[in-house]
Amino acid sequence: MRALFAPAVAVAFALLSSAAFAASPEPPGGAAACSGCHATNAAAETPVPKIYGRNADDIMAAMTAFPTGPKPSTGMGRLSKGYTDDEMKPIAAWLAAQKLGGTR
Ligand code: HEC
Repeated sequence: MRALFAPAVAVAFALLSSAAFAASPEPPGGAAACSGCHATNAAAETPVPKIYGRNADDIMAAMTAFPTGPKPSTGMGRLSKGYTDDEMKPIAAWLAAQKLGGTR
């Protein structure tokens, strides 16, 4: 499973330097960490699902399903335990308000 993670992180860090956030308001605390793995560019080829611009309720549902299952995960299970619902809600809302940069 580490084999999936390392390249995904490398790709995501490369994308961090893109101007995807240029027009966005400041992300809430903890939201910047998501872009370390989740691409902000629609054209990015990555095994990590794209979450920018997704419905906030869907993001919340996934984040609450990860820690205990049934949603399978390599890393999100552990990661999602680090956020309370109150911390996650503004992050999910902010992510939902973002647009994936690049061309689809
Ligand atoms: C260390 C890399 C990493 C970070 C950081 C990360 N994710 Fe993920 N995320 C993944 C991977 C990999 C998956 C695919 C499921 C899995 O294997 O855990 C995923 C899946 C998801 C999904 C499910 C998407 C779907 O279509 O099923 C959501 C929602 C999500 N992440 C939200 C977040 C949020 C919100 C943050 C920031 C708080 C975040 N992730 C930070 C790696 C990461």
